[in-house]
Amino acid sequence: MLDTRISRRATLMGAGAVAAWLASPARALLQTAGRLEVPAFVDSLIARMTLEEKAGQLSLMASAWGGGIAAALNPPSNSNFPQQVDEARKGQLTGVFNGNGARMARIMQNAAMKESRMKIPLIFAADIIHGHRTIFPVPLAEVASFEPELARRTAEVAAFEASGAGIDWNFSPMVDVARDQRWGRGVEGGGEDPLLGSLFAAARVQGFQGANFKSNEHFLACVKHFAAYGAAESGMDYNTVDLSERTLREVYLKPYKAGFDAGALSAMASFNELSGIPATGNHWLMTEVLRGEWGFQGFVVSDYTGDEEMIKHGYAKDGRDAAKLAFLAGVDMSMQSGLYRQHLPDLVRSGEVPQQLLDTSVRRVLAMKAMLGLFEDPFRRIDEKREASRSMLPRSRAIARESGRKSIVMLKNDGDLLPLPRSGKKIALIGPFASGQHDLVGPWVVYGTDEKAVDLATGVRGAIADKNSLIIAEGSKVDQPIPGGIDQAVAAAQQADIVVLAIGESQGMSGEAQSRADIVVPKPQQELAEAVAKVGKPVVVVLKNGRALALEGAVANAPAILVTWFLGTETGNSIADVLFGAYGPSGRLPSSFPRLAGQQPYYYAHKPTGRPNPDPKLEDYKARFRGITNTSLYPFGHGLTYGKIEYSGFTISSPSIGMNGEIEVTATIANRGQRAAEEVVQLYIHDRVASITRPVREMKGFKKIKLEPGQSEVVRFTLRPADLQFYGVANKPVVEPGTFDVWIAPSAEAEGVHGTFDLTA
Ligand code: NOJ
Repeated sequence: MLDTRISRRATLMGAGAVAAWLASPARALLQTAGRLEVPAFVDSLIARMTLEEKAGQLSLMASAWGGGIAAALNPPSNSNFPQQVDEARKGQLTGVFNGNGARMARIMQNAAMKESRMKIPLIFAADIIHGHRTIFPVPLAEVASFEPELARRTAEVAAFEASGAGIDWNFSPMVDVARDQRWGRGVEGGGEDPLLGSLFAAARVQGFQGANFKSNEHFLACVKHFAAYGAAESGMDYNTVDLSERTLREVYLKPYKAGFDAGALSAMASFNELSGIPATGNHWLMTEVLRGEWGFQGFVVSDYTGDEEMIKHGYAKDGRDAAKLAFLAGVDMSMQSGLYRQHLPDLVRSGEVPQQLLDTSVRRVLAMKAMLGLFEDPFRRIDEKREASRSMLPRSRAIARESGRKSIVMLKNDGDLLPLPRSGKKIALIGPFASGQHDLVGPWVVYGTDEKAVDLATGVRGAIADKNSLIIAEGSKVDQPIPGGIDQAVAAAQQADIVVLAIGESQGMSGEAQSRADIVVPKPQQELAEAVAKVGKPVVVVLKNGRALALEGAVANAPAILVTWFLGTETGNSIADVLFGAYGPSGRLPSSFPRLAGQQPYYYAHKPTGRPNPDPKLEDYKARFRGITNTSLYPFGHGLTYGKIEYSGFTISSPSIGMNGEIEVTATIANRGQRAAEEVVQLYIHDRVASITRPVREMKGFKKIKLEPGQSEVVRFTLRPADLQFYGVANKPVVEPGTFDVWIAPSAEAEGVHGTFDLTA
């Protein structure tokens, strides 16, 4: 019965439709799965290796020479460097991660190449999440640019600096879709939307890897955390994930697939369980989907002790069992637990793990080392001079500044308060983030530092004409009051014409293990904002944040709000560029800002219910919380410019399309303001009736355009049936005839311009 209905109503995506989708502009950055090339010598090496040496090639350890934040978050079990060098000599290691530069790598590589029996080069890995020494905006911020090409360029600079410092392999991009803002690691990812996330995943992989794996200006990307790590229940890090296969495929899996299709040849397993089976021990995920369906040829590494953690999950009974389950599921390499080198040889001897599977995993790892050029020249990325000479070059900093300003989102600008004048006004810069070398680079930086970054006060001073017109008051610490702080801040506001209030989250409030139960501006800062607002001067809120926040009271009511995230090395300059109008804001929210924290998880592409509330009214017995509509305060895609943007003139090329057709929709976007503007024009659809209920809106494309004052442009999008596909009753992609709404709009909840069309069988 069910099957008949599917075949009558729906069409499975055929080869033609898939080709059309691949050719669509939104997919232009995505390519085909990377190919692993296995040189003949790899098999002869494998034939000569002992079981212990093979298990060594599948064992990765935190560097014993580590330091800084990496070591704090992921402490090496061994801080005895000479002992770790000895492990390299004995062939017990495939490589190390988050070590400290070319000097360390040279010592270790020398030991492996000169003193180990097999002379297999080590691989050096690191978390270069958004920059090595030059730090770019946190990944979530950069996604706000809606410019994947920008992310490709910053990834390229990160690769250039880091590969000069001996790093061959990057534990990035993190592409976990995050729809619950309580989750701290949303800061590392691509936001709430699978299309936007996919385009950034692909762009980052391309930037890291470049066109040639052997280049010493690039390194191997690792798509993580596979899979659905961002769907943790209640947004608490490491928590259970329980998802329908449909939502998993339709939302969460897409950005990983995009990363692999862009050529990434490594993947990291996620910590979470997925509908009852930990990802690390999940054969369906790691082997059937990843390799079987997607054709992934690279290798999979566990996350930090992820295999061992299956014991605490209640899935493995002991270390040996954990090693066996992870390995048989398809995780080729173990990070940090040491369980593979401890147990794999014996598991093979006892016949519980087939020798051939072990050889296959070793082959993948050695082939990748060969593709990275390590067998030809194990020192190709290890060069102390180059490490220094590539660090923080002026052109890298220029890209950081560009990327910083493009990441800023202007939520509000009542009365055109922004941009601020460069002279003639006294400015009070108030708040814990007003000045100082802290909270600039973001929560997950191994090699860059706040000390080398530009703080807000320095940026503002650089932009204003009269340096004496700036008054600075801290007002409050991030989450505790300063005695007398509010009085000082109020006095500063009284002396000033304009207040810039730099408040929000510290970098410690997001990132790994930093989920927040209540996603608001911390209380002492909210009190500061209330007191300052009472002075009556115009207030610009400059928000520092690693996630979308629920803004309240004087913060939400301030006439101007800029979302500035953690922008990295050029923080202060990037913010000043936008504050004083050297650059007009062009960022858009990659995650919706809720009305209240308790709405989490809130995302624009939610399903309609049987009782939708007719926003903006509040009706009883309708789907909403008490007192608020079921909408966001600022939705995905929202962001203002210094222009005045108008949407009009919707056209559609035909009222209907067939299964092999395409349709063009257009809108006229005009800038009626006095200043140039960059607008992100977004395309959304809604499938009115389907065999599986569809989200209220889904983004299907976007274009960023620049409009001079008075200029207008007709923006065109092409929709094809493949853009309308979803996972049907049988969890396979289908396209169903029916009526579709289509919007060209400035955000996911704005009306913009709207029309409908029919898809016919
Ligand atoms: C744990 C994190 O989950 C992962 O993202 C990171 O790459 C590893 N630690 C190594 O630092």
